[in-house]
Amino acid sequence: MASNPSTDAGEITLAVRDLRTSFHTREGVLPVVDGVSFTLRRGQVLGLVGESGSGKSVTGFSIMGLIDPPGRVEGGQLLFQGRELRDLSPRERRSLQGDRMAMIFQDPMATLNPVLDIATQMIEAVQAHRRVNRSQARQLARDTLASMGIPSPDERLDAYPHQLSGGMRQRVAIAIALLHGPDLIIADEPTTAWT
Ligand SMILES: Nc1ncnc2c1ncn2[C@@H]1O[C@H](COP(=O)(O)OP(=O)(O)OP(=O)(O)O)[C@@H](O)[C@H]1O
Ligand SMILES: [Mg+2]
Repeated sequence: MASNPSTDAGEITLAVRDLRTSFHTREGVLPVVDGVSFTLRRGQVLGLVGESGSGKSVTGFSIMGLIDPPGRVEGGQLLFQGRELRDLSPRERRSLQGDRMAMIFQDPMATLNPVLDIATQMIEAVQAHRRVNRSQARQLARDTLASMGIPSPDERLDAYPHQLSGGMRQRVAIAIALLHGPDLIIADEPTTAWT
């Protein structure tokens, strides 16, 4: 990773130190992420590059606390704004996720519920972290869609995911990640499904 002198003085948003994540399979322990370290300062963009299966997505899931058995974060530090994420209770971690930190998944249906219209999902996402009424939440959802250049945001809000194109679904998933202006966005190949 190249360092950027203009931002080196900035505060550290995320420091990953010697992260190790493994999958415990019948064939044995698979060390997928083995000693990954990097530092991300406020305003910096960092790209992870590596061949398919090298552990880029698992690194992102580890930071977001989304590793489920048989996977396990075995070691290392995940310092977000100076707080060790691994020491937080599940509740504290959930409250940070989707608010101060957000993840955009390669597959927008990892974010979207197929049986709920977009408005319902975005309003729930707003109200999970803000004390606002439904109409204020809908306004924030509409503003976020509009700020991304999405045409006819009200029509999008009234649609179900299957009524949107793949690219539009991904834009909506990105809008949900951006709703609260997070300090950290983990984008896992967010444009792969963008057509
Ligand atoms: N639930 C799981 N159980 C067992 N192994 C897993 C599991 N999830 C991921 N892996 C393994 O972890 C390794 C890394 O996967 P990961 O998805 O992080 O790769 P990637 O670098 O994101 O690849 P791509 O560029 O294809 O997205 C792979 O070998 C994969 O088989
Ligand atoms: Mg991946």
